[in-house]
Amino acid sequence: MKTKLTWYGHATLGLETAGYKLLIDPFFSGNPAAAVNADQVEADYILITHGHGDHVGDTIKIAERTGAMAISNFEIAAWLDGQGVKKTHGQHLGGGFNHPFGYLKLTLALHGSALPDGSYGGNPAGFLLTTKDDLKIYIAGDTGLFGDMQLIGDEGIDLAVLPIGDNFTMGPDDALRAVKLIRPKHVIPIHFNTWDLISQDPKAWANRVEKETQTKVHVIKPGESFTLE
Ligand code: NI
Ligand code: MN
Repeated sequence: MKTKLTWYGHATLGLETAGYKLLIDPFFSGNPAAAVNADQVEADYILITHGHGDHVGDTIKIAERTGAMAISNFEIAAWLDGQGVKKTHGQHLGGGFNHPFGYLKLTLALHGSALPDGSYGGNPAGFLLTTKDDLKIYIAGDTGLFGDMQLIGDEGIDLAVLPIGDNFTMGPDDALRAVKLIRPKHVIPIHFNTWDLISQDPKAWANRVEKETQTKVHVIKPGESFTLE
């Protein structure tokens, strides 16, 4: 079985696994780095890490068109329900659920989570997905470095997707420390070069990571994919 991850720019990801299409943090409209627009993507599930506009993005519009189920923390799931999203599933930090596409657990993230209209968005999260063929994918979400990444690493991570942009999230130095705690087989950097404020050199970061750890770095461009098997 193959699991294919596509980076659409910023923190927006597509994940194809076990025959399902997942979208994570679907921010297309107003995203200067977006590889496609919101009307072009398919989804069975939409996963949202936290309430900020660059992560909730086009969730409502895409859910309406595709009928996808939105999965997030309880507060965001309830807010989306109030916005007319028909299928939602709320979880919370540390809680996992066996969805048709795999077992999804919400992990800690150090960040904010206010929703675009100012509503309370609960606590921000990351996602730890165990696929149907037992691959472990950790999508950190927007976060600063935290020591419990070590515990996430203890689960045996095949692929980690980490922010490296700095200013709003970990920058390259802390993202390198995160790789040392998580010890993934593969890592993909995201949440950089969307705006000047988070401009980074991902190749330079990749060189540092591969020099100091056993992890393989995959620097992909918006619109490109990485296949894990
Ligand atoms: Ni954010
Ligand atoms: Mn963000």
